[in-house]
Amino acid sequence: MKKTIIITIALGLSAITGWLATGCSKTEIVEVAPPGVSFEKLTDALHMVLENDRTVYTQKVVNRLVKEDKVIKASEHWSEDQALPLPAQMFRMGAELTASKDAWFSYSLQSLWPINKSNAAGQTEVEKKGLEFVAANGGAEPFYGQETLGGQNYFTAVYADVAVAPVCVSCHNEHKDSPKTDFKLGDVMGGVVIRIPMDS
Ligand code: HEC
Repeated sequence: MKKTIIITIALGLSAITGWLATGCSKTEIVEVAPPGVSFEKLTDALHMVLENDRTVYTQKVVNRLVKEDKVIKASEHWSEDQALPLPAQMFRMGAELTASKDAWFSYSLQSLWPINKSNAAGQTEVEKKGLEFVAANGGAEPFYGQETLGGQNYFTAVYADVAVAPVCVSCHNEHKDSPKTDFKLGDVMGGVVIRIPMDS
């Protein structure tokens, strides 16, 4: 008899708590539902982190140790030469590590005039269109597009990679594998492509 009463009370309480909780959470959803982040804002944010990391590595590590302190070289063959990897190589290694972790998004540094052919643009029409768009407008604004690859819809954004220092221009123009040898300061040399699935 005693047992039955306790169980009844417990059930009654949990029913009331459940009702209260449902009631509260319903009210909260209506009042504070977040607006969500647009695909543009998401890729803009990812790009800002990638670009800033690359700039910091270029200025605070490569430029400082190679140009100012002259204690180490930066080399394309950094492993054999016991040197620092180039900023573009650091970027690519990060992108490859991200891909190896089966991330739900991907990014890469590409160019219509690549030194490394695996950075060649235009593996998809949208990538190519985006790289041409940012090259034509001098990087004034990014390109946003959509594409379907393997049955999956993607939001694809392309951000200009600009020759901000004379050394960008001289190294690329003089590189034996560069298909373009007349880059000038301020030119768009390539672009960062960020791809995000739209319906996952
Ligand atoms: C010392 C030489 C050197 C300097 C300086 C340099 N790059 Fe590169 N860059 C390279 C090499 C080599 C690659 C290919 C790296 C790889 O294996 O992915 C590359 C790759 C790139 C790519 C990807 C497409 C491609 O050509 O393979 C872009 C875009 C790029 N660099 C832009 C820049 C910009 C912008 C700067 C200046 C902020 C710069 N680079 C400075 C040598 C250089």
